[in-house]
Amino acid sequence: MCGIVGIIGKNIKTTEIFDKLEKLQYRGYDSAGICIEKDNKFYVHKETGIIDNLRKECPNLFGDVIIGHTRWATHGKVNKTNAHPILSANGCWAVVHNGIIENFAELKDKFASKDELITETDTEIVANILEKGKGKEDLQNFIFTCEQLKGSFALCVMKKGSKSLFIAKKKKPLYVQSIGNKTTIASDPICFEKGEYFKMEDGEYAVANFDNVRFFDCKGRLVSKQALKCFELVSQISKNGFEHFMLKEITETPQKIRGLCKHYQTIDWSFLKRWWINKVKLIGCGSAYHSCLVGAYYFRKHLNIDAEALPASEFLSDNAILDSSTLCVFVSQSGETADTISALKKALKKTKKIISITNVDYSTLASLSPIVLPICAGVEIAVASTKAYTCQIVSLYMLVMALKSKMRNAVRNVLNLSKRLDRFSLDVSKLAEAIKDQKNIFYIGRNLDYITALEGALKLKEISYINCNAYPAGELKHGVLALIQKDVPVIVLVSNKRLVQKTLNSAFEAKSRGAKLFLFHSQPLEKIDLNKFDGGFMLPNVNNDLTCIFETVALQLLAYNVSVMRGLDPDKPRNLAKSVTVE
Ligand code: M6R
Repeated sequence: MCGIVGIIGKNIKTTEIFDKLEKLQYRGYDSAGICIEKDNKFYVHKETGIIDNLRKECPNLFGDVIIGHTRWATHGKVNKTNAHPILSANGCWAVVHNGIIENFAELKDKFASKDELITETDTEIVANILEKGKGKEDLQNFIFTCEQLKGSFALCVMKKGSKSLFIAKKKKPLYVQSIGNKTTIASDPICFEKGEYFKMEDGEYAVANFDNVRFFDCKGRLVSKQALKCFELVSQISKNGFEHFMLKEITETPQKIRGLCKHYQTIDWSFLKRWWINKVKLIGCGSAYHSCLVGAYYFRKHLNIDAEALPASEFLSDNAILDSSTLCVFVSQSGETADTISALKKALKKTKKIISITNVDYSTLASLSPIVLPICAGVEIAVASTKAYTCQIVSLYMLVMALKSKMRNAVRNVLNLSKRLDRFSLDVSKLAEAIKDQKNIFYIGRNLDYITALEGALKLKEISYINCNAYPAGELKHGVLALIQKDVPVIVLVSNKRLVQKTLNSAFEAKSRGAKLFLFHSQPLEKIDLNKFDGGFMLPNVNNDLTCIFETVALQLLAYNVSVMRGLDPDKPRNLAKSVTVE
């Protein structure tokens, strides 16, 4: 993963690059570093952990050329040495890199002696190939270096005294914005000011100087590029008075769902009518995979069609049976998840009936997909997906309803959901207090509730580091019950009238073995002895398809509360990054 930034202009302050790197922290925050050139000298500062650590330790500097990096470690431990920027052995080249150089071991043998390399990274060899390219023009040298690299990269490179930034990419995103006498390079246009910017393509090269940025092909010939418009407002990515992005983002859910609903009414769905579909595969990772599970449920229920959800990595490992009548739906908040992108490429070989559902319309996934449906969730910064997950579910619901020619019903149901969500508040602090020091937590449910249980458990484990697992309620007695001991919390989800009794029977079997039961239900339970529960919440019931959204939001709030009570930062869980751009 990793985020990279480069700026060239007059008297650029380090604070400016820190601000931009902070916006890229969703890509990783194992370590951060900058290299700034002033009076023909490189000043390099690196720290482990978040950008704030670097901001605190690094003196206020300014210079004309600066590069910065926020790292999600793939090669080499998390320490200052392996933090980027990485310098060449003679200290004349500085490199920031996002991606993986797969042939780095081979290149080391060819281009560097052992004592020249001091880091454990795959990036260091790039700086050293550049250093070896003496005699060649800088651009020629840079192109030659990139041509040696197998794998993936977005690179931003400084050469001492050149007053230039050299950039290139392969399979990783990279963008350029030139305003006045300043050019900024970044892994994501969220670092840019409003205005025009350029998207780098694989095989393109660019050189930024004080007064311009020029783009070249692999032969070093100038190419002209079409500018894109920067649409994101910086205000959208502030915490707006909330303590954490995660809480702000959960709170935005109803408003985003309304925006999505409005947008989906303007879509011309006639393309669907032209498609003969025999089965559906829905593919995503993590939370996006869970929304695919919900989507598959909608396809089966409303269209009576064979629909299956798969984690993208499993779709890649398996002999996927697809043909030209198979509809493949790819779901990804970022649109940059490597497994999902590879899965899309694999599917494209068999079918053109492909829809991608993503939050980022300029993402790689969107650019490769014949049809793109936006999830309209706005920028999501917290690593734990919240509003994007619920918007994915609503997107899938509306897609299925469009296929069923029931758009008007869908709009009515979604607007009703968003209104009820506006009024929805839940104090889960007592439950959070009760479970925050537990070592194991179980989530159970049936059918759609089981999928919500999976998502709830993922949310809690990723930001609390408690081992939480979800099971179909009916599966407990087939093995899991052996893990239930005195006081182990079991969170029970009940939203489907037809399944209430069966789910509660499973819960009571756990209770008989000492479990503490906490219930989230949206069905009246008059005949049930609520004394058997150690806590419970009645949630609104909108309809069988969308009530899961209240459960989801409730479990997001629970995870958030537990994380904060454990003294953790819910926005930046350890070992994770928002955008997982490695397979
Ligand atoms: O950007 P994507 O939706 O493709 O990301 C997929 C997963 O990495 C993501 O949903 C992850 O599981 C979240 N951290 C869960 O909260």
